[in-house]
Amino acid sequence: MRDASFGRPLSGPVDELQAVQVDQMHDLRSVLQVRDFRRLYSALALSSLGDWLGLLATTALAAALSKSSSAQLYAISGVLLVRLVPALVFGPFAGAFADRFDRRWTMIVSDLVRGGLFVGIVLAQRLDVLIVATFLIETFSLFWIPAKEASVPNLLAPEQLETANQLSLIVTYGSAVPAAALFALLSSLNRALASGIGFFHSNPVDLALYFDAATFFVAAMTVFGLTKISGRSPRANRSASDQPVSLLGSIRVGWVYVWRNKLVRGLVVGILGAFAAGGVVIALSRPYVELLSAGNAAYGLLFGDVFLGLAIGFTVGPRLLADISRRRLFGMCIVGAGACVAIVAVVPNLSLALVFVFVATAFAGVAWVTGYTLLQQEVPNELRGRTFGFVQSMIQVILFLTLAAGPALAGAIGKHRIRLGNGAYVRADGITVVLFVAGLGALAVGVSSFRRMDDRLGVSIVRELLAACHIAAPPPPAPAGFFVAFEGGEGAGKSTQIRLLESALAAAGWDDVVLTHEPGSTTPGSTLRSLLLDPATVLSPRAEALVYAADRAEHVHRVLRPRLAEGAIVLCDRYVDSSLAYQGAGREIPLDALRRVQRLATQGLQPDLTILLDLAPEIGLGRVGANRDRMEAQPLAFHRAVRDGFVALAHRERGRYLVVDATQSPERVAAEVAAEVTRRLERVAGSRHVRRADAAPVLA
Ligand code: TYD
Repeated sequence: MRDASFGRPLSGPVDELQAVQVDQMHDLRSVLQVRDFRRLYSALALSSLGDWLGLLATTALAAALSKSSSAQLYAISGVLLVRLVPALVFGPFAGAFADRFDRRWTMIVSDLVRGGLFVGIVLAQRLDVLIVATFLIETFSLFWIPAKEASVPNLLAPEQLETANQLSLIVTYGSAVPAAALFALLSSLNRALASGIGFFHSNPVDLALYFDAATFFVAAMTVFGLTKISGRSPRANRSASDQPVSLLGSIRVGWVYVWRNKLVRGLVVGILGAFAAGGVVIALSRPYVELLSAGNAAYGLLFGDVFLGLAIGFTVGPRLLADISRRRLFGMCIVGAGACVAIVAVVPNLSLALVFVFVATAFAGVAWVTGYTLLQQEVPNELRGRTFGFVQSMIQVILFLTLAAGPALAGAIGKHRIRLGNGAYVRADGITVVLFVAGLGALAVGVSSFRRMDDRLGVSIVRELLAACHIAAPPPPAPAGFFVAFEGGEGAGKSTQIRLLESALAAAGWDDVVLTHEPGSTTPGSTLRSLLLDPATVLSPRAEALVYAADRAEHVHRVLRPRLAEGAIVLCDRYVDSSLAYQGAGREIPLDALRRVQRLATQGLQPDLTILLDLAPEIGLGRVGANRDRMEAQPLAFHRAVRDGFVALAHRERGRYLVVDATQSPERVAAEVAAEVTRRLERVAGSRHVRRADAAPVLA
């Protein structure tokens, strides 16, 4: 039966899960196949290992170089403190530096200097040198990071950035574990060597520090081989009117950009809000564990829980939620994390706390990857260094402030309980209150980011979430503009009607109307079109379907999405339903397979309205005449099946279709079409960016 597959579900959940796993492996492989990214990634892995090892070794050395135990504590906190100060002082310069100067050399020099400083620490064996060197090391790291973040998008395609960020975050934080093991190993080795070789006597962490220096030298060499990442933009040193700008001027330009761009501001505020809440949680975790009458073991568990949650968030989160708009996902995850922190504040026992801490950190992990990816995708190359420099230094400042203020505030509030009538009570101590407020604060920031960044106005979140879990069909993404597709068999009059609608919309004052068609609206598409319509071409049905899909993928990517994102009203002659009718109903390719191909090609982009000009094929083909292309030349039975296919599709999704009887006069068809289109446009005008020049009378 030809129509058997009409109306079947898209695909089973198991299929989808497997597809997700396959996609993930494929994405990982495709990102790591880019030679330059692979090199940059190994440099990052080495530098991260060096950073962690350096943290352990320098704090251990600080303790070893101090005489009394209280001096030891001061020395350790001194070393930790000087790690935070550079962000306050040099943060903004570091970002501007990455935009103005060669990013490759910025990274190489930072690595070489950091390596050299570690050698200096070992040679000097003095606390003052250690503190000054730590300060400098941190300062150079500050220059390294924005240079690296700004370089990644120059090596990869935009759709590869999410995977690249997952990999980067995993190696940045995951390297803490091997660093700790390595530190233990190197310390024991040092002790063993010290018993025989005088050189190693002075200090048990020397070997770790030398090793650390070596990781930076090797990283510098690795970056040296990456000629493609220089990425410096000549425009970063010039103003809009092409005047040279000073370093301070370019820092200001970066800040103004972050502030003025709605999306970037939403992202930055979200990232900083999440880190502020994270800082409070870290600062209060120890007293919180005590509050729940649990001890050191519980503290350890909580710590492991945080890492596990983040790791799951970084790795599987973005994939599991692959179908949700990234801009929405970011805000949603911060809301989720904030809500969980607020719950953690009030839960009565450790097991519940562990569950919610895990969920909160998993949400935070997803928000982190998504936020960084969106920033890399949205911010133009010449501003990227400054944006990342700004975010990076603000994160450090905020962490520093919350780490200091959290416990102080909790202490000032003190310990209270509110008694309820029946002997029960509610905790109202400082820790609970501060954690709760931090959670609510993050939640509010998440909501505000979501509002600022929402790119699917009018699509309900619940529907999107259900679709992401494959419980419901994916909701039509609602880009800024308005998308109308015209469908129908041969000779139905689509091109005439599209032109008439364009004039009608212009007369009614609607701005920015775009006319386009399939197949053949892009450069590669026009080659595909000639192939598809040439009567001499012989193609199997599946190959034909894939060639139409290839044309569509290019059209969506190059024309439809960008124009819709700009708020255009797009009128498209044929779209997905042509494939479902011609290749599905006509060529009898199962619809669910075809739909999957369409999803790949369109990434879920659906028309807001599809207008079906319905006509018996006998009449339509009569209008076409004798000079027929490959598709028009198909037998009548094929064209009848196509018409039935269109009608079945329209029947299934009545809300999205307008079916018009195309035997009427062109003027009557046009009036019907214009009335429906303007009615729908009026309805969405408040929530989309479609523009109307003046208040000319509404049509029809
Ligand atoms: P075109 O000259 O654009 O025809 P029309 O003016 O009728 O739109 O040729 C497009 C032909 O390709 C048409 O016969 C329909 C067919 N087609 C498919 O079979 N599948 C598709 O996905 C699309 C877009 C078109």
